[in-house]
Amino acid sequence: MIGIGLLVMLFVVLVMLIIMTYYLREVSRQNETDHVEEVTEPANKIKILNTQTYIYTGIILTSIAIVVVIYLLVKGTPWESHLMEWMNIVVRWMHITFGIAWIGASFYFVFLENALNRTKDLRDELAGNLWAVHGGGFYYLEKYKVAPKKIPKDLHWFKYEAYFTWVSGFCLLFIVYYFNASALLIDKNIMDITPLTGVGIGVGSFIVAWVLYDLLCKSPIGKKSIPFTIIGTLIAIGFAYFYTKVFAPRAAYIHFGAMLGSIMVANVFFVIIPSQKAMVKAARANQPLNPELGKNAGSRSLHNNYFTLPVLFVMISNHFPSTFGYKYPWLILSLITLGAAGVKHYLNLKEKGQLSVWVMPVSVLILLGAAFISAPPKNPGECNEVISINEVTQIVNKRCITCHSATPTDEFYKTAPNGVMFDTPESIFKKKDLIMQRVVITKTMPQNNKTNITQEERDKIRCWIEQGGSTK
Ligand code: HEC
Repeated sequence: MIGIGLLVMLFVVLVMLIIMTYYLREVSRQNETDHVEEVTEPANKIKILNTQTYIYTGIILTSIAIVVVIYLLVKGTPWESHLMEWMNIVVRWMHITFGIAWIGASFYFVFLENALNRTKDLRDELAGNLWAVHGGGFYYLEKYKVAPKKIPKDLHWFKYEAYFTWVSGFCLLFIVYYFNASALLIDKNIMDITPLTGVGIGVGSFIVAWVLYDLLCKSPIGKKSIPFTIIGTLIAIGFAYFYTKVFAPRAAYIHFGAMLGSIMVANVFFVIIPSQKAMVKAARANQPLNPELGKNAGSRSLHNNYFTLPVLFVMISNHFPSTFGYKYPWLILSLITLGAAGVKHYLNLKEKGQLSVWVMPVSVLILLGAAFISAPPKNPGECNEVISINEVTQIVNKRCITCHSATPTDEFYKTAPNGVMFDTPESIFKKKDLIMQRVVITKTMPQNNKTNITQEERDKIRCWIEQGGSTK
């Protein structure tokens, strides 16, 4: 029954996609001929733009509706978690793609700014220029001091990469953490809150972070780079600390990254794009430009550039339990952020031709420091008795196979997470290195210690592995 329902859905999706992309093509063609013939009838242009917007909105809304219908169809069946997994993959893929486009543009423009020729053979109105060769073509770029005398008709704006990165990231936060808040967001051993409170704290914290950051930028401190950096860093560490005292460590890390990412997008949305719009408007009306606007947008853009490497590191660290599994997770998070921003600072200085001697080594030292302090103790304890596979199987049966089994009984995980099952002694043996990492060293399994494993049991598993992990 469900199978037929899904097939019908897929067929409908296919037909709708074909119809919509057909119209999109027709509209773009019309748009192109307009360009060639230089027909600039404004009303016509606006109509075409509107049709395009309607079609895009239509595609997005239809996609959402389809996902909702599929979800309702498979809810409560084994396909529910399969659907969530695919949503996770698709949205993650989009998030990474948009993120690459956005961060790529950020790197490129800060590179331009740093590498511009600002002295040799420049026209008066120019701040600098740059020659480049790429992909078999030669490019010549000019940056104006403020704005050209006449604003060109076709002006490319960089903003959708940022907005779509944020929207897809926010969807991902819901798909991975908020829909499963009690399993992934909340760790009752850290703070016993309801899922709704957790989501409220998460989303609310992004708003608070933005307001604090924005106030700091607008205050007199915002103009002085060293005090601004110090205070900003302290506030960031405060957030890292706060998140790890409220959420499960892994969720705390992703919230820290999402918080920085949200500030970055808010910078684009509330400051950079509005400043640019005001500049274009003033230039078109032949009014004098307020140079503060450009400077302001420029400094926010530079902040964003410094956030990129920390955000990327934090996002990746979510897949490495040795980072968030450390007993003071906020400390590792802070060190990673500092070290990664330091690396970005070195790269920026280098592009400007200022080869700093100490920035890179200090940043690397900070990152190495994070790796060093999160290392497991050298001597985790003596093993006085030989642990048999029977004892290990008993522990695993009690603490793990509610999730890691061909037939999980956990209320949330209906299929074995990551396909990892511990139904036989051999399957436990095969994964012993991973078990060592997750159960003994980082203590990130059982997930949020849902099944209340004891330290004694962790030690038994460790001893069994250290003794070679016999399956007899
Ligand atoms: C409440 C459900 C749950 C319980 C109980 C649980 N796990 Fe997990 N486990 C997960 C989830 C979800 C993942 C995947 C996400 C992650 O890696 O954090 C996972 C991942 C793992 C991985 C990493 C697999 C990989 O491919 O990287 C190992 C190893 C593991 N668990 C071992 C254990 C052991 C051993 C126990 C018992 C001591 C246990 N788990 C108990 C839910 C659980």
